[in-house]
Formats: sequence, structure tokens, C-alpha cells
Amino acid sequence: MKHFTACFLILFISVFIQAQKLESPDKNLTLSFLLNEKGEAYYRLKYKNKDVVKSSKLGFLISSPTSFAESFKITNTQFSSSDTSWNPVLGEQKTIRDNHNEMLISLQQAKTGYQLNIRFRLFNDGLGFRYEFPIQKDLRHFRIDEELSEFNLAQNCKAFWIPADYDTNEFRITTSRISEISSLIETARDEPLAAKAPSKNLAVQTPLMLKADNGLYINIHEAALVDYPAMHLNVDDKNYKLSTHLTPNKNGEKAYIQTQMNTPWRTIVVSDDARDILASKLILNLNDPSKIEDTSWIKPTKYIGVWWEYFTGGGSTWAYSDNQDIIIGETDYTRLKPNQHHGANTQHVKEYIDFAAENGFDAILVEGWNEGWEDNWAYGKEKIYSFTKAYPDFNVEELQAYAKAKGIKIIMHHETTSSAADYERQLDDAFSFMNKYGYTAVKTGYVGPIIPRSEYHDGQWMVNHYNFVAQKAAQYKIMVNSHEAVRPTGRSRTYPNWIAQESARGTEFESFNGNNPDHTTILPFTRLMGGPMDYTPGIFQGDLSVYGKNKARLSTTLVKQLALYVTLYSPLQMAADLPENYKKHMDAFQFIKDVAADWDNTYILEAEPGDYITIARKAKNKNEWFVGGITDENERTATINLSFLPKGRNFEAIIYEDGKNADWKTSTIDYKINKQKVSSATILKKRLAPSGGIGISIKEIK
Ligand code: NOJ
Ligand code: CA
Repeated sequence: MKHFTACFLILFISVFIQAQKLESPDKNLTLSFLLNEKGEAYYRLKYKNKDVVKSSKLGFLISSPTSFAESFKITNTQFSSSDTSWNPVLGEQKTIRDNHNEMLISLQQAKTGYQLNIRFRLFNDGLGFRYEFPIQKDLRHFRIDEELSEFNLAQNCKAFWIPADYDTNEFRITTSRISEISSLIETARDEPLAAKAPSKNLAVQTPLMLKADNGLYINIHEAALVDYPAMHLNVDDKNYKLSTHLTPNKNGEKAYIQTQMNTPWRTIVVSDDARDILASKLILNLNDPSKIEDTSWIKPTKYIGVWWEYFTGGGSTWAYSDNQDIIIGETDYTRLKPNQHHGANTQHVKEYIDFAAENGFDAILVEGWNEGWEDNWAYGKEKIYSFTKAYPDFNVEELQAYAKAKGIKIIMHHETTSSAADYERQLDDAFSFMNKYGYTAVKTGYVGPIIPRSEYHDGQWMVNHYNFVAQKAAQYKIMVNSHEAVRPTGRSRTYPNWIAQESARGTEFESFNGNNPDHTTILPFTRLMGGPMDYTPGIFQGDLSVYGKNKARLSTTLVKQLALYVTLYSPLQMAADLPENYKKHMDAFQFIKDVAADWDNTYILEAEPGDYITIARKAKNKNEWFVGGITDENERTATINLSFLPKGRNFEAIIYEDGKNADWKTSTIDYKINKQKVSSATILKKRLAPSGGIGISIKEIK
């Protein structure tokens, strides 16, 4: 036995010949950087002495051509610390603390002389590391064929995952052990989505949420994705090893690099309390501060829209005509036969503006206002839409004047059907048009396969495109809400006008083949780790058969829809249902009218991925608090401790609860509303129906 131990030690020492250590400010996290005898680089992360990731490889395959992953030696190590605070323009809290310890390792590859730096930042809630390619003599322009970063898990964790796909992130989320992914991935991929490019590898997308049997919650994602492809994770389901799989273009190429370039940060958020994962600001902290100086025009926005009616099957359409023989720029729309059920017509839009104004909304979204929708979803055409020409029955000037008089903004819509190249050509004209007519926000869309045809939604070219659009929009003081774009990575800190994204399965799917009842209990742990989501909640009429052909049923109770305004953070929030449905339930609608979209503070009260979430938030600059609680398909009792309220003061709570018979399967519109006096000493115990929720608004009583 003694002999065995000695051998083991010798082996260990000879494997890792050089090591450096870094601790988090609270000392709960320890990062080790290691070089073995072949000069291969590894890192290891522990939380309270438990393995988060075991020794995991670092490096690249680059096409100079060479392996840029061995014969490294450390040429320099620099340590530093930082403890600062900053205020996001819009956010879940007024002030964000950035407290971390940093270690910068400079490496040189002996066989080539090439240099590579790796910067590690350790926060109390996790790790970020990135590669930096400094300017150097022998390496200037090169291609990355693969990044080799690994996340070598200590156990067969429970994972909340969607399959790797270069073109979409609109899958249902599957919950399984790592070892079960291979048997489930084909079913998970089997979704009718507009553009799909599944990875051939056994691989999943980030943000990936994991729960280990040793009680650790681990989230893997990336921060500051700029000029680089999005990262997927290969799954070695025998050894529980995850490794980077960068999105390629259709030639299989990954990233074209010029030195003096930094990769995105690879992030691992970790805690033994699931609530800390939701509270983490690590990804935002790893992004650059705002590049926009005057941010006064960036505003939290609650909106309704000419939108859900296109999904209910009630008959209205984005297209003005049913005639398919449209050639953009050449067709005289005034001579086309209108189909008589075009949604974005002046009269109808005015009705929406009236409803928005009567109920205190900031804006209305109008989809289908512009030329080009006739042959949409016939993917592959380069020139599809005009972003400056309205259909003849949509009077831009008249509607802007009408909206302005009522204090309402109209949100522009740019569906590109993924003809990103043509969108870039039109961008200046489109944004000038918006400035001219007073539009201050745009919803962009990338349905279908990308043009240029060599590209995917998550590749380097498109990453540059989305960033370019946000940057360009900032020059025109325009806020951007991108749909079908690559998953967010905290870029909204740097471009706060990039106010929200969809980039996951949103409410629209409730009208196709549905969302799972646990969907929104997972999203904050996955998709929302990178930034706010335009999920578009607020559907009251859960039975879509009332509109005719559509047989779909909502996967939640009405009250859970209310709760989502608090549990799914976004400074851009839609009330997605038709005004006629809100008019039938004005008492419940009051919660949506009241709820804030920008916050002074956030309190994660209860959370378990896949099961439940209860969050309280204080409205920005107001003495108003809102609580949202949701559950999966199982009913549960939420414990809502109001100790976040200021002590010694009295408040009135309006409580929106599931009714006795509420159930997502049978009876979604069963709710009750009560008022109750509360204080910071109050602890509420409330029953949530199967896929139900609770919404509470709280105001001080003077
Ligand atoms: C998909 C978007 O997610 C949805 O909101 C939009 O209405 C359609 N594309 C059409 O642009
Ligand atoms: Ca979508």
C-alpha cells in the first residue's frame, strides 16, 4: 500500500510540472493552472474543496498549421485584484459589484515561438477565463480550427440541455443525466424548426445548467462573444467530459483571427445554492462597460402588438396580398389585389394604439407593415423585404402622429428571413427612415437559413452581424430586440440599446406544438444567464381552439403568465395576448399594467431548476415591489418571505393566485385576487396549481 502511494505521488508530480493557484475573494473557489511535462496546459476548479471541473485542457488547433496546445512554457504570471461597482442602464439591480481576483498567464510555445496569454478571473460566484493572442512577430493572421477548452465534470451530473445546432436555439429543454444525452438527443432534435443545422457530434448548447450529486449547481456559458463563433459543448458521456465545439461555417472553418485579439470568456458559475446562479452577475461583469455615452434614450418598455393574431389562426396575415408574384423594388403594390385580412392596416393599428394608451403601455409592435411578406418563408431569396416601404394600407405618417398624440411609440419590425447581407445593405436607410418617423426601437428577426449561404446563425460572420446591427443602431439611438439571433453573452452591458433578445423557445411555440410546463422554470438558469429575454408572456386565453382551426393549449395557468413578468427578467416586456382577451379579465390585467420592467433590487426567494422559481423585485426609483412565483407540472406551496420590505412600515399586497380548479391541462383561466396588509415580518404560504403561479404587487400604505 505504501509503495502504491509513493508511485502515485511520483506520477502526479511528473504529470504536472508547473502550477499556479488563484483563490476567489471569499476563498470558496480555488483555481489551479497546470502545465504537464509535454507543456500541455490545464486548469482545475474547486468550490469549498469539491471539484467543479477536474483537470481540463486548454489550447487550440490552429492552421498555420499547428497544434497550439503543447510545448508551452510559462514566461510570466501576473496577479491582480479588483473590487468596483457599476450601474447598469437598465437591470435587475441598480448597482452591480465586480469583485474578483485575476491571474494572467503568459505562455510561449517552444516549437514555434508563438505566444498565448490566458486570463483567469475568479469571482465569489465563479470563474471566467479567456485566451488572448498578443501582437507577435511570427503569428499574425491565422485560422482557429478548434478551441480545445474542456470542462471535465467530476460526476454524471443532471443536465438541462438543448442539442447543439448551428442555426437554432428554439428547442424544448431536456432534463437528463449526462450519460443519458446520447439516447435522448435524436428525440430532442426532432422539432420542426425553420432552420436547422445539427452538429454531427454528440453536443449540447450553452448556457448549460448542471446539478451534481454533491450538491453543486454549475452553469457553463460564455461572455462577450465578439468576432468569434458561438461555443457548443461536445459531450463525452462516459467520462462526463465536455469540450468546446465552435460553430463552423459551411466549409467547416471556425474562426479567422488577427493577433491582438481576445476570445470570449468561458464562464463557470457555481454554488451550492441554486438561487446564487440566478443572482450571478459574473457574465455582465466580464463584458466591457457601455460604449454609449448618452444613454438617456434607452428606456424600459412595456408593449402590446399586432402579433399574436398572426399565431392564433384567427385569419389575419403579415402579407398584404395573396399574390406571390412579388419582386421587391419592382412590384407596384398599389395595383396588387389586397387579401382583405392584412393585420397591419391603419385602422386596426389605431385600435391597438388606443388600447395601449388606455392601459398605460409605452409602445406597440406592428409586424407586417412593410413590403415583402407575400412569399415569406420561401427561404433562400436574397432580396425579400423593403425596410423603408410600407404597404399601401399602412400610413406611416398618420400612425406616427396618432401614436405620438397618445404618448405611444411604435416599435419597428425588421424580419430579414435571415438575408443578413441584404439587411446590412439596407441598414442605414432603414435606421434613417426610423429616425425620420420617430421610431426608437426595432425588433429584428432571422427566421430560416442565413444568406450569405455559407453561414450559420451562430458562426463568426453572423456574430459580427448581430454586433454590427446593435452598434449601428446605437449611432441612430435605436434600441434592438433581436429574435433568432445567437444566444446572448452579456453584450447588453456594452451596448445597452441591445435591450433584449429572443434566442430560445418563446411564447410563439405555445401556438404550434407547445412548451413544456417546466420550460420557464429552466430558462432563467439557461438562456437568461446571457441576458434579458423577449419571451412575450401574458397569454390569457389558453385555449386556442376558440379562434377556429388551432387546437393548441397553453402550458400554464393564467396566473403563471402574470408571474413570468417577474421571473423572466427583461426591460422589454410584451403583453402578448389580444386586447379583446384582456378586456374580459381587466382585474387580472391590472398586474401587467402595474408591473415594472426596470429594478432597484432583486431577491431570489426560492429556486430549483426545472421545478420552481420565486423572485421579488423592487421597482426602479419607486416604493413598489413585485413578486412572481412559478412551478412546473406539479402543484406546490411557495414560501414567500417578505423580509426584503423595509422594516417598521406597512404595506398593502394585491395577491393574484391560481383558483381552486386551476390546472394547465384543464382550466387555465381560474384565478382569484385578494388584498392583504403585509410587513417585512410577513411570510406567505401560497398554493400554486399544476403549472401555475402567483403574482403579488406591494405598495406602501401611508
Ligand atoms: C419569429 C419571431 O420570433 C416572431 O416573434 C415573429 O413574429 C416572426 N418570426 C415573424 O417575424
Ligand atoms: Ca422565434
